[in-house]
Amino acid sequence: MNNTARVAIDVERVIGDISPLLFGGFAEHMGRCIYGGIYEPGSPLADEHGFRRDVMAALHELNFTTIRYPGGNFVSGYHWLDGVGPKEQRPRLREMAWQSIETNQFGTDEFMQFCQALGTEPMLGMNFGTRGVEDACNLFEYCNAPLGTRWADLRAANGHPEPYNVKYWCLGNEMDGPWQIGHMDAIDYAKKAREAAKLLKWNDPQVQLVACGSSNPQLATYPEWDRTVLETTWEYVDYISMHYYAGNHADDLGSFLATTAVFENYVDTMAGLLRFVKGKLRSSHDVYLSWDEWNVFYHDQTLRGGWAEAPRLVEDVYNLADALVVATWLNTFVRRCDVLKIACVAQIVNVIAPILTSSDGMVKQSIFYPFQLFRRYAAGKSLDLAVTSPTYTAKTHGETPLLDAAASYDAASGQQALFLVNRSATDALPVELAWRGSAPQRITAVYQLGGADPKTANTFAQPDAITPQQLPGMAINDGQAGLQLPPLSFTVVLTGG
Ligand code: AHR
Repeated sequence: MNNTARVAIDVERVIGDISPLLFGGFAEHMGRCIYGGIYEPGSPLADEHGFRRDVMAALHELNFTTIRYPGGNFVSGYHWLDGVGPKEQRPRLREMAWQSIETNQFGTDEFMQFCQALGTEPMLGMNFGTRGVEDACNLFEYCNAPLGTRWADLRAANGHPEPYNVKYWCLGNEMDGPWQIGHMDAIDYAKKAREAAKLLKWNDPQVQLVACGSSNPQLATYPEWDRTVLETTWEYVDYISMHYYAGNHADDLGSFLATTAVFENYVDTMAGLLRFVKGKLRSSHDVYLSWDEWNVFYHDQTLRGGWAEAPRLVEDVYNLADALVVATWLNTFVRRCDVLKIACVAQIVNVIAPILTSSDGMVKQSIFYPFQLFRRYAAGKSLDLAVTSPTYTAKTHGETPLLDAAASYDAASGQQALFLVNRSATDALPVELAWRGSAPQRITAVYQLGGADPKTANTFAQPDAITPQQLPGMAINDGQAGLQLPPLSFTVVLTGG
């Protein structure tokens, strides 16, 4: 069998525009994400606002286009009013979702300041567990209304006269999950979401609303939950959420690297539902997908905080294999950008995150780098590549291509970017690149992440074990170029000229 993969590239074969919001993050009041991660007043590493300077610098490098906040499961028991106003008057509370102590020292205003410092678009979650429509409208008024009414005036009294103009809002979190505070069945949730959405759109027709889809495609209620929610809320919402966490629980590398099939199937089903509901309702409105929780999550299963403040919860230490799965996930976002418009990696610091902190430093985990490379280079249009690849048999997903590929083309800069993962644990993969129509003249830069051992991870002792290397460019002759992708590697190829 031919062991060479082939990729044909044609800038006129376009899948769609790559939404910058696909490169978002998620910050929850959970474990050490906020306290001890983003926010640590009193630390010698903190700035005048209490934000960790080292963490902010790393977050700047990731350059998230949006950050979803404050949860997650946390939001379903959260009273936003507890988190605003003078800090010494904010209550210490028993937080039920993670069984931790919540000090409320960081709240909506601190989050807005954090987003402003990062230049990122806030995406706020609303409590649909213990609260509902009225509370959602009050929070909206606090954030977005001009002065002259109760909650807007409270914002001003708290030092923020200008409205924040938050555009993206999540109507609850994972309400289909029995683990959720205030879990509901589909129709009860859908009606509540529709009524809240109706009032929010009356407040501001430009606001963008995300309804809760299924928490994962393994739940028995999937995809019926999604159908019910879409049929009930369609005209009032703009996105439906998807959540998924991948893991290598069976320590089976081949199957883990093939999880891309799950990502693709999940998007396929949701895209089918969007078409079905739009057709059934004879609607001219469109709803898109917001994959607002996604990541590898299996190394650390500590989910209960023992009623401690900022306990260590799910602080997964990521290895090379995890970074490769993240790269194929981001490839999926680029390939399915026709329907996927928002995505938020869960989470951004300490809790299943690309950044791990200690009291005196931080580490960039392996998964930091694929995210950073995609954020930098996946811009403009997504290209419909023609890919042929040798395959292997994965225990859980059957025949799987060794090569996973996606590409973008930014007409403004003329730059093309190819994103290539070699799933082989043993062999380098020769790849022939062939341009159809007009071809660039050069490969201007190549960035490559790899290593011999899929379990190598960055740690405080060895922070740079997994980092991308820059390789020299090369000429493209007669629209053709050849590459050797090392085993277990992720490569970004940039072109120009
Ligand atoms: O990101 C961790 C948790 O996973 C979130 O709070 C929840 O929405 C999901 O189940």
